[in-house]
Amino acid sequence: MTFPVLTSRKILLIVGGGIAAYKALELVRLLKKAGAEVRAVLTEGGAAFVTPLSLAALTGHPVRMGLFLPDEETTMGHIELSRWADLVVVAPATAGLIGKAANGLADDLASTTLLATDKRVLLAPAMNVRMWQHPAVQANVARLQGFGDLHGMAVVGPDDGEMACGEFGPGRMAEPAAILTAIEDLLEDTVAVGQVARPLAGRHAVVTAGPTFEPIDPVRGLTNRSSGKQGYAIAAALAARGATVTLVSGPTGLPAPAGVTRLEVETALQMQAATGAALPADIAVLSAAVADWRVDTVAGGKIKKAPGGPPTLSLIENPDILAGIAAPGPMRPALVIGFAAETTDLEANARAKLSRKGCDWIVGNDVSADVFGADGNTVLLVSAGGAEAWPRLSKTEVASRLADRIAEHFVPKA
Ligand code: C5P
Repeated sequence: MTFPVLTSRKILLIVGGGIAAYKALELVRLLKKAGAEVRAVLTEGGAAFVTPLSLAALTGHPVRMGLFLPDEETTMGHIELSRWADLVVVAPATAGLIGKAANGLADDLASTTLLATDKRVLLAPAMNVRMWQHPAVQANVARLQGFGDLHGMAVVGPDDGEMACGEFGPGRMAEPAAILTAIEDLLEDTVAVGQVARPLAGRHAVVTAGPTFEPIDPVRGLTNRSSGKQGYAIAAALAARGATVTLVSGPTGLPAPAGVTRLEVETALQMQAATGAALPADIAVLSAAVADWRVDTVAGGKIKKAPGGPPTLSLIENPDILAGIAAPGPMRPALVIGFAAETTDLEANARAKLSRKGCDWIVGNDVSADVFGADGNTVLLVSAGGAEAWPRLSKTEVASRLADRIAEHFVPKA
C-alpha cells in the first residue's frame, strides 16, 4: 500500500512520556517508508522510555530535547522547527502535554512548539484509563479540538484494551498504522485548503448559527434544538479560507471560532437586526434554527401557577430572516445559502424551500437520525442546477466541503 500524500511531507513528531513511546518508533518507520521526512522532539518523560539514539537512527536527524540548548538551537531554532513541519504529531500525547497545550502553557520544547506552530496538530493520546476518563482531560481534549479550523487539534484514538498498568478500557495509544492513516487524512485536508491559498480573501461572509430563545416571561421561553456546532464549523471553515466572517449566534455555549467576529443574540428579532446590520456581504449562510413564533406580549414578571389552569400563550410569527436576506435588492449577498432540516423527502422539501425562500443553495439535513448535538451530519446540497448527496461526514468535514464549494463558486476551478 502506498501513501503518495506523504511523499516529501515534513512531519514533526513529539514523543511524550509513556510506555506507548515505543510505538512511536514504529510510526517513524512507517512514515519514512511512505516517503515522509521526520524530525523528532523527545520530552524528558519520553526519554525515560525510548532513547534519543533510536529516534535519531530512525529519523536520520538529531533528536531535539530541550528549549535552550545552544547546539540544538543553532542548527534550527525552536520556532523555525515548529514552522518547518507540514504537520505536527504528538504520539504518545500524555495528559500533561494535552493539559499544557489546552491552556497555552509553554515551559519546554514540546509545549512551546505546539503553541508556536502554524500547522495542524494531530494528537495520539495514551494514558491510564481513569486519567483519560477524568473530566479535566476530557475538557482539555474538547477545548483543543474546538480551537477552530486553524488551531483546532485532531485526535486519533485512544483505543480500548488492556493497558500496561493492568487496567482495561480506553487509553491505549492508537496503533501506528491508524495514526499513519489519520496523518494522511489531515495532510490531504491541508493540501485541499492550501492549494488555493485563502481563496475567499477579501470576501465578507455572514453566518447565523444556534437556536433563538423567545422569552415568555423573565424565567421561561420558547426555543429550538440546535447545538450551533454546524454553523460554528462553517464560520471557522470560511475564515480559514480567508473570508472575513461575522457570526450571528443564538445562545450555544460554544467558544467563538478563532478569527471570527461573533455577535451574540437571543431572539429572532435580534438575530434579524444583527444580520441585517452586518451587510453588505458576499456570502450569507443562514444555519440558525430560528424559532417560528414568539409570544405576543412578554410578561414583565414570572407568570404564577394559578388554580384556573395553565395560561394561554398567544403567539405571533417571527420574520423569516433567510427569505428577507435572499429577497432581490441592492444589499442581497451574491450567494445566499439556507438550511432545511427534514425527516422525510429531503430532496423534494429542500427544493421547495429553495424556491420559497429565494436562496441560491439549500443544505438539506437528514435529521431522522442522530444529528442534534452530535458530531456527524448527512447532507444533500441542492441548487437550481441539481442535488448532490454527501456521505455521512463529521460537522467539521461538512463545513470544509461547503466552504470549498463556496470558494469554487467565486473562483471557479480552471
Ligand atoms: O422554514 P424553515 O425554518 O424550515 O427554514 C430553514 C432555513 O431558514 C434555515 O436556513 C434557517 O436559518 C432559515 N430561517 C430563518 N428565519 C426564520 C426561519 C428559518 O432565517 N424565521
